[in-house]
Amino acid sequence: MSELADIGMVGLGVMGANLALNLAEKGFRVAIYDRGQANRAALASGAFGTSFIDCATEDALLEAIRPPRALVLLVPAGTATDTALSALAGKASSGDLLIDAGNSDFHDTRRRTVELEALGLAFLGIGVSGGAEGARNGPAMMAGGSRAVWDRVAPMLTAIAARHVDEPCVAWLGPDGAGHFVKTVHNGIEYADMQMIAEVYGLMRDGLGWNDVQSAGTFQDWAQGPLASYLVEITAEVAGATDPSTSLPMLDVIADKAGQKGTGRWSVIEAQKLGAVASTIEAAVGARNLSAATALRDALATPATAPFGLDGTTLHQALHAGKVIAYAQGFGLLARASEEYDWDLALADIARVWRAGCIIRSTMLDDIAMAFEARPNTSLLTAPAFRDRLTTTLPALRQTVAAAALAGLPTPALASALAYVDQLARPRGTANMLQGLRDYFGQHGFERTDREGSGFHGPWVG
Ligand code: 6PG
Repeated sequence: MSELADIGMVGLGVMGANLALNLAEKGFRVAIYDRGQANRAALASGAFGTSFIDCATEDALLEAIRPPRALVLLVPAGTATDTALSALAGKASSGDLLIDAGNSDFHDTRRRTVELEALGLAFLGIGVSGGAEGARNGPAMMAGGSRAVWDRVAPMLTAIAARHVDEPCVAWLGPDGAGHFVKTVHNGIEYADMQMIAEVYGLMRDGLGWNDVQSAGTFQDWAQGPLASYLVEITAEVAGATDPSTSLPMLDVIADKAGQKGTGRWSVIEAQKLGAVASTIEAAVGARNLSAATALRDALATPATAPFGLDGTTLHQALHAGKVIAYAQGFGLLARASEEYDWDLALADIARVWRAGCIIRSTMLDDIAMAFEARPNTSLLTAPAFRDRLTTTLPALRQTVAAAALAGLPTPALASALAYVDQLARPRGTANMLQGLRDYFGQHGFERTDREGSGFHGPWVG
């Protein structure tokens, strides 16, 4: 046998194959295993072929890796990951390390940590972001598990990570499911960010009467300045693209019906369970669901709505405000989960990891990292730099949501962002009425403004 491999890669779909190539390019020897012989052959006969050990069976894979072994699994989340992990766990030796780099539910990661550690194996759950291009040239990676176990593979994973200036976008973030939870919230923010972009595109098209070329040019301009981000850059590309088969604008031939794999929904479910508010993400998930309700949409379709007179600058500021609020909610959810699960998440580190390689990379994350560095564990909305941003941009968000509502144009994520800050800004809200009603019909009791204690009742309780 030739020299043993530094690491094994299980699952050579788009993400696994590209991560294997990335590792090989950085000088690591990789044992590759996939049930599909064609996937293995493609790597073994390709550019870095000599860096791979092509393994036809799990036994061959384990034999090919230097002990104590490290194996990265990139297989579909859920049952397929459980099946792959238990097959390897049955053959691995004590001290071997299994790394789940898929988009797993962090509850599964917590369970698997306990199960695999009980077998004497080490386990890490790592969220990987950046799609195929990121996997090949540098993804952002969010690691969860034991710190000592992370240290064993940190040099290899740091070598293949994306870099922001010179800093690698990879970090150990906390124990057990911390990495996968952070990746889930990354995706939740991705959903909110994309939904707000789509809403603004809709306002350009249906409110301002712009064609796709005008929108593309505007998003291209917005890719510089405070909204500079990968998602705004690719929005310009998508809006400006032409369908090769019809020569129509690409957006005219893409069906208005969004899919999802579930991580956005998980963010919302976890936020609800933790009593955190992620209303912008919830609006984004809901908007995707409603987009797919084609029969109901057909039944309720009405003619085009009234145009409105907002300008591009107002929309830019509205998107800026919405994005700040979506980030504030995402980081708020991370802080709440950190408390609940004792993860001690460093929000500044998370913002730093997201600055390059991942889908939500944006210049704003640099400022977010600095804000959390200066004031850990506070809402982003209270950080002076972000308060200033909102003071400047909130009036435009309000104008945009109001004008859209009057024109009958839906802006669920932008409107929920506005409602979130408006509720926070009201010193006296309306929960007193809720408490009164709860007490009236259920004698649930309330606190009073003029006395200490709880469990007070109104005159309706006899
Ligand atoms: C990433 C992406 C990636 C993927 C998600 C979202 O960070 O590289 O988030 O994980 O795009 O699966 O997909 P859906 O929109 O289908 O839920």
